Amino acid sequence: MSSSNLLNIRPTGPFSADLTVPGDKSISHRAVIIAGLANGPCRIRNYLPSEDCLNTLRAMERLGVSCEYAETNQDGPMEVMVHGTSMGLSSPSSTIDCGNSGTGMRLLAGILAGQKFESTLTGDDSLCSRPMGRIIKPLERMGAQLEARGKTEGCAPLVFQGRALNSIHYIMPVASAQVKSAVLLAGLFAQGRTTVEQPSETRDHTERMLSDFGIQLGFEGNKISIEGGQIPEATNLDVPGDISSAAFWLVAAAAREKSRVKIRKVGLNPTRTAVLNVLLRMGAKIKETATSGGEGEPTGDLEVHGSELHGTDISGKEIPNLIDEIPILAVAGALARGTMTIRDAGELRVKESDRIRTVVDNLQAMGANVTEHDDGMTIEGGANLHGASLDCFGDHRIAMAFSIAGLFAEGETVILNTECIATSYPGFEEDLRKAGGIRP
Ligand code: S3P
Repeated sequence: MSSSNLLNIRPTGPFSADLTVPGDKSISHRAVIIAGLANGPCRIRNYLPSEDCLNTLRAMERLGVSCEYAETNQDGPMEVMVHGTSMGLSSPSSTIDCGNSGTGMRLLAGILAGQKFESTLTGDDSLCSRPMGRIIKPLERMGAQLEARGKTEGCAPLVFQGRALNSIHYIMPVASAQVKSAVLLAGLFAQGRTTVEQPSETRDHTERMLSDFGIQLGFEGNKISIEGGQIPEATNLDVPGDISSAAFWLVAAAAREKSRVKIRKVGLNPTRTAVLNVLLRMGAKIKETATSGGEGEPTGDLEVHGSELHGTDISGKEIPNLIDEIPILAVAGALARGTMTIRDAGELRVKESDRIRTVVDNLQAMGANVTEHDDGMTIEGGANLHGASLDCFGDHRIAMAFSIAGLFAEGETVILNTECIATSYPGFEEDLRKAGGIRP
């Protein structure tokens, strides 16, 4: 990021860009965790060298997994050879810091609960105020002994004593891929068959990746089962580009006539592509070309041409499959004609920031017409946005969503404290420059 930790965004006209976005964050976390448990070396290509994923990589190293960095760029390793431990992790000498990453902490909690050693997970102020009760409850039911020692009840630091786990049948009260994954990973270390039942579909990267590593899973409707004691068989993985990072450019191009953006090698897992469905409903012109499918993660190219967008309703079962894209979709709503409503999205309040509050505040600061609800917001599109000085509340997706809003605003938009962007999208500033949003 820029050394001054702020971005000065200027309004742009139509732009044309060919981009590849960095590796998928959700898949990168899972890749290093599951490879670290495998029975041999695994090469991970296009690993996301962002702060969140580097923290998970370091965490696995602290747990005794040796990693060679085969290729690095200025941000960190992009190709990692992970030497799996055959489920034989070792005791870390001190606290493991997950930084800003809820995914890192909740997935690591799943594997630490069933170890023979003690361990502690901590994170930054934002992470230490996010709810961990949602993983503590099922893990305790499995026999885990862990304590949440945060200032707020149910929050990190999490201290694990390490216990033998038993299997459970867990009906998840929240549709959360992180909770599902924590229970499935704990189930790998438990005795017997563990089943998780999700209230609605959530991203399925953990299931796909465990299958890639030869782990037998059972699927029945919304239930997924795993038999404990299986050892992942070493394999190599290619991480596709992150559709959540691509979403910023999809909206930037879709909302401006004569703009065009092509994004290559993006993950097109159907549990992550609801953002495309919403943009199509809004009138966006999107061409999708699959480049690989079948087993593992579907990947392809996306090309978007600008057009006039109109509002739409986003709610219900669609929400978990576009939860991370709501800030940028709300920006699209402000740029569109008509009304956009977002409901059933109360989970946004417990992300890296309270994303209902922070999106509403920033949209209002730019002159948009938006009303806050407990579980979402209503945006009356079409108001002329003006530049403003905006905080991103330490939240990477807020920083990037409002950088894109700045491209459409009159006057200059200043995004403050942009260092958080590095948690998921190193290189965002460079791509913004390519799109003409900051001076070369
Ligand atoms: C993630 C799941 C989502 C998402 C997060 C990444 C994952 O969270 O918001 O950015 O990789 O499993 P929840 O599972 O808590 O909804």
